[in-house]
Amino acid sequence: MDAIRMTGIVKCFGPIRANDGIDFTVKQQEIHCLLGENGTGKSTLMNILFGLYHPDAGEIYINEKKASISNPNDAYALGIGMVHQHFMLVNQLTVLENIILGKESGGFFLDKKESRRKVEELVERFGFKIDLDEKIINLSVGMKQRVEILKTLYRGADIIILDEPTAVLTPQEVEELFKILRQLKANGKTIIFITHKLNETMALSDRITVIRKGKVAFCCDTKDTNEKELATQMVGRQVEDVVAKTGEVKGPVVLELNQVRLNKRTKETVSLRVRAGEILGIAGVDGNGQQELEEMIIGNRKVEEGEIKINGTPIQNLSVKARKTMGIGYIPSDRHKNAMVADFSITENFLLGYQENPRYVKKGLVNYKALEEDAKVQVEKFEIKVAGVEQHIGQLSGGNQQKVILGRETSHDPKFMLVAQPVRGLDIGAIERVHKTLLSLKEQGKAILLISAELSEVMNLSDRIAVLYEGEISAQFAAGTYTKEEIGLFMAGKKQEEMAYEVDSQ
Ligand SMILES: Nc1ncnc2c1ncn2[C@@H]1O[C@H](COP(=O)(O)OP(=O)(O)OP(=O)(O)O)[C@@H](O)[C@H]1O
Ligand SMILES: [Mg+2]
Repeated sequence: MDAIRMTGIVKCFGPIRANDGIDFTVKQQEIHCLLGENGTGKSTLMNILFGLYHPDAGEIYINEKKASISNPNDAYALGIGMVHQHFMLVNQLTVLENIILGKESGGFFLDKKESRRKVEELVERFGFKIDLDEKIINLSVGMKQRVEILKTLYRGADIIILDEPTAVLTPQEVEELFKILRQLKANGKTIIFITHKLNETMALSDRITVIRKGKVAFCCDTKDTNEKELATQMVGRQVEDVVAKTGEVKGPVVLELNQVRLNKRTKETVSLRVRAGEILGIAGVDGNGQQELEEMIIGNRKVEEGEIKINGTPIQNLSVKARKTMGIGYIPSDRHKNAMVADFSITENFLLGYQENPRYVKKGLVNYKALEEDAKVQVEKFEIKVAGVEQHIGQLSGGNQQKVILGRETSHDPKFMLVAQPVRGLDIGAIERVHKTLLSLKEQGKAILLISAELSEVMNLSDRIAVLYEGEISAQFAAGTYTKEEIGLFMAGKKQEEMAYEVDSQ
């Protein structure tokens, strides 16, 4: 039986046909992957199914019965739950309180005992590992996601939609999530999973639908396809990994970190150098000091010990604005918090961080014409899918937001680029574009620090690699010196000296 059948779904936003007559079917108890380029209409289709958007045309059948879904309450009544990419949890409440919030039958406190019993039963049945009494604020991203999944189960969901759930997870957390999803399937649940990662699609799904430009391009059983075919179906062409030509870079040192302590608990401090024309890749499992490193270099966290220099000038006591004015381009890991204002137009977003630029602001007056010109150039260069530069950036798909930021940050001839998790949430075509952009910046002699949880990205692009482990550098070497497996060991805490010893003694 089909758990979901959506037929002829159309949804327009002004001139954009986000869904252009989509037929989408998911069988009961199936894990179904929804693939497609950025801005192709995946989230829109799922928001329609969850009752957040109303289609302009089309019909929805749930378990073969015609359904009308006007809001998420209707969706839940039909057994449909959704986990969004941006979690909707209350930080100061506990896990249990968040799960039962808004769903208490007797009253929030009266009912807690009964609710706890119900939640404990779910935790047990589906094999979740989670502490119900921990506050949300103390949880890792992976844990918060489990709370969101539990919330949908507690509300009785049989069909669970996950919109890019792995984009922000570490490899270990992805494994844990997959275990949970397989367990849910074994217990009769149906799962729809949006991702840009083809290896995940192949590993997890039973069936796959590829959407292109608002229409279904391809649908098949996972066992009948492969990553290459899926890539071609998504992008309409072959996509190659972009790999840098590396070698020793002799340009002058641009960024210098001298004995910077990333957090109070570490024994060792961090020292790094990035030269003009060089990409230094920071590898490591997320949460090992990447955030601290990023924030200290850009100026969002105080440097308590050590020194950071750009072209020989100490910057650790300068404001973010002053650092940016010195010529730092910045692609932050959290673009929503640090790089954009959702309710501003694309043009207005081009001003962010460049308020001191005389091209944009003269005698306190903003030159919108110049901003608009520059925004248009970048929209064209990066093939950003927009209705126009006056569109709010918050309305763009995730991948297209990232391209706007990349366009802005690379268009001011930066001396140094601080680039953190640049391809998170991007489709494979867009990843290729970002990687080519980074390499061309390197060719132009820019110094680039690339912080990424994707080891293959670090290995493909970097001239040198440093591995972060628990706030310290466990190894630093020229790219190509160690294999993927060996770097994996550094990421798990093995020290470079130990590796050298083993090699020597063989
Ligand atoms: N609320 C909205 N207002 C205006 N346009 C929107 C809105 N929501 C989505 N769109 C547009 O609809 C199109 C499809 O967007 P959608 O978010 O569904 O893409 P997606 O396939 O999920 O992309 P991504 O992989 O980047 O998340 C995009 O062009 C987007 O700009
Ligand atoms: Mg989306």
